[in-house]
Amino acid sequence: MRIGLLGYGTVGSAFYAMAQEHAQTEVAALLDLKTHDGLNCRQTAHFDDILSDGGIDTVVELIGGLHPAYEFVSAALKAGKNVVTANKQLISACYDELISLAEANGVSLRCTAAAGGGIPWLHCLTRLGQTDKITAVSGIMNGTTNYILSAMTERETEYADSLREAQRLGYAEADPTADVEGYDACRKLVLSANIAFGVSIPEAQVPCFGISGITARDIAAFKRMGLVCKLIAHAEMRDGSVSACVEPMLFPVSGQMAHINGPDNLISLRALRVGVQSFAGAGAGGFPTASNVLADCLQVAQGCGPFYTRQRRPLAVDNDALKQKYYIRTADAARSETLTVSAAHALALRYKNGQQPFFMAAVAEEN
Ligand SMILES: NC(=O)c1ccc[n+]([C@@H]2O[C@H](COP(=O)([O-])OP(=O)(O)OC[C@H]3O[C@@H](n4cnc5c(N)ncnc54)[C@H](OP(=O)(O)O)[C@@H]3O)[C@@H](O)[C@H]2O)c1
Repeated sequence: MRIGLLGYGTVGSAFYAMAQEHAQTEVAALLDLKTHDGLNCRQTAHFDDILSDGGIDTVVELIGGLHPAYEFVSAALKAGKNVVTANKQLISACYDELISLAEANGVSLRCTAAAGGGIPWLHCLTRLGQTDKITAVSGIMNGTTNYILSAMTERETEYADSLREAQRLGYAEADPTADVEGYDACRKLVLSANIAFGVSIPEAQVPCFGISGITARDIAAFKRMGLVCKLIAHAEMRDGSVSACVEPMLFPVSGQMAHINGPDNLISLRALRVGVQSFAGAGAGGFPTASNVLADCLQVAQGCGPFYTRQRRPLAVDNDALKQKYYIRTADAARSETLTVSAAHALALRYKNGQQPFFMAAVAEEN
């Protein structure tokens, strides 16, 4: 396999190092904004150099973001090159279009590192989906928010202090919006649900309520109730319709969830025959993520199909049927109320638009 590598950042540089150790994966050219010393490949600042190189059969996209990643990936697929990417934002936003391009051009598109970082989650979903019916996917899909919530719980700090600490340690970006508001987890959820259920749900229909409104007083109240707060992305397929959302959720301090601390992820699926299976580990980081990218390359080299699944029935998200108990805290008081997911997120939006203090967290069923 001759690879055109796009991006030499955290994941790109780790991938380059790991690819050197495999006889099957040769990085023939690197596209990056800077040039790097000591690399054993051609370096270029122009994507066309990679696109027009007939010897490159696979493009590994590790630039991130929507543009120019979208233009590069779609051009590579149209030119008959396989694509491996870790870019959840791109795949979640352009799901149908990019899979159709891979199918039409007889090439493979893989993105295992896009959900779960170093955990082979999408691969496992695909494998299980061939023998069983997956009915739910859920879990801690964002390490940044898990780090912040763990720090607030362990050290009884305020949100802003824990966020600053996460930024200092490299767990949170300078602009943490995508992580703390739940958009990053939402993209991973959409990808997971699409592959698990054989559907295509629009990212814009998945409500996200993040953790930026949480206070040390909320955490103290949860502790008094024997509960721990985690940011959870969950989707469920029931009677042919899919419910999906991202929201804080409260778990018993004695349960498995409460012990997933720091930047780690814990992702679970529920299927008719096998029941619940959970996968825990590093949801981010250069080498864990690059390991999934490299494994995807090896699968492509072995001649895997265009995408994980051929099924992708377009489906609207329906959050009207799923009812949960919620902890709701406004400027005045905290209360507990049972609401549909739609009603809870509509309430959250009203407070957000009114710029009034508000926090909510669903109470996990196992409590
Ligand atoms: N980091 C993780 O733990 C992790 C985990 C899972 C998935 N991912 C995904 O992996 C992808 C890469 O993430 P990362 O953390 O490695 O990002 P990163 O460290 O910011 O690296 C991105 C690289 O791409 C280069 N680049 C940006 N725009 C470019 C352009 N137009 N042309 C050529 N090169 C360009 C950057 O150059 P400059 O440095 O000069 O800007 C940098 O070398 C993203 O899609 C991310 O969501 C990352």
